[in-house]
Amino acid sequence: MLLEDRVVVITGAGGGMGRGIARAIADEGARVVATDLDQTAAASVASETGEDAAFLALTLDVTDAASVESAIARTVETWGRIDGWVNGAGAIRMDAALDVAPDEWDLQFEVNVKGLFLCSQLAARRMIAQGEGGAIVNIASNAGKVGYPRMVAYNASKAAVISITRSLSAEWAEHGINVNAICPGGVDTPMLRSCAEWLTGRAGGDPVERVQEMAPDQLGRHIQPHEVGRLVAFLLSDRAQLIRGQSISADGGDTPY
Ligand SMILES: NC(=O)c1ccc[n+]([C@@H]2O[C@H](COP(=O)([O-])OP(=O)(O)OC[C@H]3O[C@@H](n4cnc5c(N)ncnc54)[C@H](O)[C@@H]3O)[C@@H](O)[C@H]2O)c1
Repeated sequence: MLLEDRVVVITGAGGGMGRGIARAIADEGARVVATDLDQTAAASVASETGEDAAFLALTLDVTDAASVESAIARTVETWGRIDGWVNGAGAIRMDAALDVAPDEWDLQFEVNVKGLFLCSQLAARRMIAQGEGGAIVNIASNAGKVGYPRMVAYNASKAAVISITRSLSAEWAEHGINVNAICPGGVDTPMLRSCAEWLTGRAGGDPVERVQEMAPDQLGRHIQPHEVGRLVAFLLSDRAQLIRGQSISADGGDTPY
């Protein structure tokens, strides 16, 4: 198994993608710390990881340093260490560029950028104190490369994640911490469905058809969260040592760069 006994913390684990990531890393033998803003959602992730999996559910708000520190302390109390960290929490507010309100912009940057950086920083401090390296995987988005319409703030926030990934990889390599990002697209989660509903509300059409249209063309179907999770598991593992500072598109071919 790729992650036998490694302790891996996931933020946003209660969401669609986070659940798939939890399942995939548990399948690879990791001890899973499922965290989310929503405590009930975090606790319910246990049903994805299987009865035998080592599992801890914690409340964690990525925008609140005290909350992140407390989750790190609880993890270390329970399992003594942190080997991997997955920044999965994310927020999206769709709107035409002409209509974006400052608070919508701020929310997406608070969660997707500042929160992700804060978590990475605190996780890396812990890994450096342990002295045995580690791995961080950021969930960016193909939106950070493409620039989709009606998503200007989200696109920009995910482009920032791609940039942060490069910076942290370069700075923390000397501590043995490998930092990469995955850029998914068309993954079957509540976030995707909320985008389809938003578009239907503004531009009409059938919400079910809208969701279908968001499936990656070459693949001909939506991506399932645990498929992204398998890539996350690989990037957390020692086998990914050659891949550093990358933001890899995992969107069924929609963004071949
Ligand atoms: N679904 C897709 O097709 C897709 C594509 C590209 C990227 N992504 C990214 O994947 C990640 C997961 O998205 P998803 O589709 O599973 O969405 P989701 O809405 O199902 O899950 C997001 C989770 O993040 C949590 N969250 C929000 N704010 C938080 C905060 N301040 N602190 C802690 N947790 C918080 C939510 O409670 C939720 O459980 C996000 O970063 C998203 O931007 C999704």
